[in-house]
Amino acid sequence: MTRIITVASGKGGVGKTTVATNLAASMHDFGVRTLLMDTNLTTPNMGFHLGIPLHPKTIHDVLRGEARIHEAVFVHSTGLHVVPAGISISDLKSTDPSKLPRVVLDLVGDYDTIIMDGSAGLGKESLASIEAADDVLIVTNPNIPAVTDALKAIKIAEEFGTNVLGVVLNRVTGKKSELSVEDVESLLSYPVVAVIKENPLFHESLAAKTPLVYYAPSDPEALKIKKLAAEIAGISWEPPSYARKQGFFTRLLSLFK
Ligand SMILES: Nc1ncnc2c1ncn2[C@@H]1O[C@H](COP(=O)(O)OP(=O)(O)OP(=O)(O)O)[C@@H](O)[C@H]1O
Ligand SMILES: [Mg+2]
Repeated sequence: MTRIITVASGKGGVGKTTVATNLAASMHDFGVRTLLMDTNLTTPNMGFHLGIPLHPKTIHDVLRGEARIHEAVFVHSTGLHVVPAGISISDLKSTDPSKLPRVVLDLVGDYDTIIMDGSAGLGKESLASIEAADDVLIVTNPNIPAVTDALKAIKIAEEFGTNVLGVVLNRVTGKKSELSVEDVESLLSYPVVAVIKENPLFHESLAAKTPLVYYAPSDPEALKIKKLAAEIAGISWEPPSYARKQGFFTRLLSLFK
């Protein structure tokens, strides 16, 4: 049975595409038949995270009824299947997002997991990707505006009957001014399933058009996303011991800084 997971946030720029691409890449590496779909229809940029060249058919063509969903599947050099979005202005003007839940149904059975990268805001396209999903993974940052918008996304998921898997707390620096994990859990009433630190390697990996799990596979933040992917997929996996040690010594050193 295919499981559809949407990565949503409410607020823009919190790290949805970063989390979605790294999760999908990790699941693919675990042997899960995974499709990553760009459902950010107005400001899509998943293609940049993966270095996808302009693909002849996109999710926009499919939603306009000008292509079948299978024609829009691009096979990345890693073997990961991806449905990119069109990036032209005309694409964003002429597309009806409400068809998304029906379009995705055509893929059911072909994949174990479909990960949909949602858009910012809570307009029609965000709602469509939350409605189309079995599960929603919320990404937020440790500040009040991001968490307030995350709460709205959660309420919408609950109204659609979409299961909320939990919250990825991203771009954590450890500053006193930030909301703590406990704050976020109590405001959102869902568990924080991963805490991803602010890490310049995410910028480097974006510039290299390569998800962090491939760009720096032993980086602690990459391993956290991989661990989350394993947990979501129900796979038993632990980070390699050298990486755990590196994490321990890094933490120890930081105590003396
Ligand atoms: N943990 C992190 N540390 C440092 N930079 C990060 C981290 N997570 C994401 N970023 C950077 O933040 C920027 C926004 O990330 P991303 O595109 O994933 O957000 P988004 O929620 O998908 O945005 P949008 O709402 O516009 O779709 C990117 O430049 C990305 O590299
Ligand atoms: Mg995005």
